[in-house]
Amino acid sequence: MLDRLQAQAPDALLALIKMHAQDPREDKIDLGVGVYRTNEGATPVFRSIKKAEQKLIDEQDSKSYLGPEGDTGFTAALMPYIFGEDATMGGRIEGMQTPGGTGAVRLAVALAKAAGVTRVHMGVPSWPNHAQILADVGVETVPFTHAKSDGTADLEAVLAAIHGAGPNDAVLLHGCCHNPTGVDYTLDQWEAIAAAFAETGVLPLLDIAYHGLGQGLDEDVAGIRKVLAAVPEALIAYSCDKNFGLYRDRVGAFYMMAKEASQLPAIVSNANALARANWSMPPDHGGAAVRNVLRDPAMTKEWLEELDDMRARMRRVRARLAAADNEAPGLNLAALGDQNGLFAMLPLDKDQIARLREDHGIYMAGSGRINVAGLHAGNTEKFIAALADVTKG
Ligand code: LMR
Repeated sequence: MLDRLQAQAPDALLALIKMHAQDPREDKIDLGVGVYRTNEGATPVFRSIKKAEQKLIDEQDSKSYLGPEGDTGFTAALMPYIFGEDATMGGRIEGMQTPGGTGAVRLAVALAKAAGVTRVHMGVPSWPNHAQILADVGVETVPFTHAKSDGTADLEAVLAAIHGAGPNDAVLLHGCCHNPTGVDYTLDQWEAIAAAFAETGVLPLLDIAYHGLGQGLDEDVAGIRKVLAAVPEALIAYSCDKNFGLYRDRVGAFYMMAKEASQLPAIVSNANALARANWSMPPDHGGAAVRNVLRDPAMTKEWLEELDDMRARMRRVRARLAAADNEAPGLNLAALGDQNGLFAMLPLDKDQIARLREDHGIYMAGSGRINVAGLHAGNTEKFIAALADVTKG
């Protein structure tokens, strides 16, 4: 039976981690998978999380099951940061913990499917796992263009997707720090998107995986808050991988916004049933640590400072790359200064990407996506010189 299975290619992005690890060159640069790195190239555990974990070790008195909804203190503590002061929108939003943002996206798509969604419109390029999840859950992906060649968002394309959507369609949008392009909608554009959702009644699926790493905690969710204020219902996936540095602990949250508060229990019961069949219950540790951070003012302050430092460092790297526009003409590096988050797409061809890897020890996704956070004071000049080398005529 099992010999019927065809070998699958390894996930290209995850395979890059191994290739980079095996490269003996000391000055190699990893711009592949999306993890934040310090100016020293490290991905340390947050200081605030270390303290929260210690508190957990000292105070946790049981590891008994919690249920498919996970740590509800964790999901509740995040809500004001995502949704603002009226965090439940009058009792219309409820959340549950998921194994990472990936679990939250999967649950959003599966719940949408259970409610009758058969197609999801999605801006491309997108995080490659989005399309894989949609296909695996059994929902059709309908692509539209996310970014224009000048490095700004294609508003007309998303509006056409929303207005063209059928009664069984949903539209998936990245809340901020778009992966892989770094190109976010402006607030005016979000206003138009919110109006289109309101006019058509199409269900928004919102994926927020880099909250706080673009322009600021409030600024990064200002767009999705406009959508949520305008629409009757929405599904929201959230990841704590990057903004709490909890990657391997798999900490995510899934929020459901109902038309009426009275409809929420039935919606949540469906999500609970889907979670039970998928993973039964989410891993506890990371969510409990986030809850501890957010319930303690001193730890919260430290976390906010850590987040500010990360964001400021990435903005400095972006500014340096933007200033190098003339050094590697044709790549539109200037646009990177206005984009957000960990990622940017460089219009490099396959040969150029291979030369960067082979000649310069620089590892990036085959799509031309770079992780801006892989650059720092010690390697940015080398990267710019390598770009100049592979793009010179
Ligand atoms: C990425 O896009 O690099 C991250 O979101 C990690 C992942 O799981 O792909």
